[in-house]
Amino acid sequence: MWALLVLIGAASVSAHLQDLSFDGQKVFRVIPQNDEQVEILNSLASIMQVDFWQPDSVTLVRPKMQVDFRLGAENSFEVEELLKESGVEYQVLIDNLQAALDTQFDSQARAAGHSYEKYNNWDTIAAWTANIAAQNPDLVSRSVIGETYEGRPMYLLKMGKSGPNKKAIFMDCGFHAREWISPAFCQWFVKEVIETYGKDTVMTTLLDKLDFYVLPVVNIDGYVYTWTNDRMWRKTRSKNANSNCYGTDPNRNFNAGWCTTGASKNPCSATYCGSAPESEKETKALADFIREHLSTIKAYLTIHSYSQLLLFPYSYTYTLPSDYQELNSIASAASKELASLYKTKYTYGPGAETIYPAAGGSDDWAYDQGIKYSFTFELRDTGRYGFLLPESQIKPTCEETVLAVKYIANYVLEHLY
Ligand code: ARG
Ligand code: ZN
Repeated sequence: MWALLVLIGAASVSAHLQDLSFDGQKVFRVIPQNDEQVEILNSLASIMQVDFWQPDSVTLVRPKMQVDFRLGAENSFEVEELLKESGVEYQVLIDNLQAALDTQFDSQARAAGHSYEKYNNWDTIAAWTANIAAQNPDLVSRSVIGETYEGRPMYLLKMGKSGPNKKAIFMDCGFHAREWISPAFCQWFVKEVIETYGKDTVMTTLLDKLDFYVLPVVNIDGYVYTWTNDRMWRKTRSKNANSNCYGTDPNRNFNAGWCTTGASKNPCSATYCGSAPESEKETKALADFIREHLSTIKAYLTIHSYSQLLLFPYSYTYTLPSDYQELNSIASAASKELASLYKTKYTYGPGAETIYPAAGGSDDWAYDQGIKYSFTFELRDTGRYGFLLPESQIKPTCEETVLAVKYIANYVLEHLY
């Protein structure tokens, strides 16, 4: 087996995971049964480019964990042979990534501009934020909370009927660039608010009594990069000192057990925690906004994909938060609401024990700032398409997720004082 590894290594010196065409690239799923099988994955990752989809990095892999990873066309065959030979059970989740890439755009809605049932590029989303605010002045307003590394304005939408001393719920999307369903959900949620305010009694009460802050894309530079250069990009696009690798994982960049576990100090890693907490302009802008509005923000929701999970603190430690019982029952009820529409099954629990320990996340940070109701959603699917969720699933995914978010918002409203 080790000889085979060395052989593969020699053949894969020039692996090109960033090639514009993903022809022949494959996504594998394995569940390593023991430390030895984990070690095989580690060895692979050390000799060739392996893009871990779930968990986010090879260092997070533990025995019995479901592991999805992407390989270049030039390595797929040999690695499959190696997995067979070493007795690691595996499944080919995506046999040809280019084909999955093409089926992402299967939406029937073929409008040229913005569509809630399509993936919109950043320019389209930016224009949409302006339009939606202009067209709904009594319900929506737009502000800019900062600028990205590459100089793009970070637009924030505030939704709610004006009133005195209103509390608020903050929701963001697009931390990780390749998780396209996430920004699609934030846009959908805004649409839902506008379309159902004054018709749906729950939504009407929510907007009368609370404000929603929606940040449709946090990591805008990364999102743009996934449209122009590399669909599988995850991190920000900032230049790292003394390295040729770009970007920091924004969800490892918050001041919550920063870089102590499940994060990397290597700028080339997909889970690089950055040079310091809030080293990224995007995370700093988000954290500054929340700090400035701590007296009003009562819930923090952050939307990722994929895996169908509803997570709450902590992820930087196995220690349970003091509000564990309450958060767990909210997560349970919200998951049930979500499943009521299409039977989509969500797993819920504290991040560390439900998936893996990973420090520096925005959910843990918000919780430690005193925002008790702090949740991370990992939307559809469970790996059939992974980050390449077809557009035809935007509508059902967003519809079911709206139910969970409304449930949480309503719970927060009923427990304000
Ligand atoms: N997949 C997400 C990530 O790794 C999960 C986030 C859970 N929260 C956390 N603080 N690690 O970024
Ligand atoms: Zn993510």
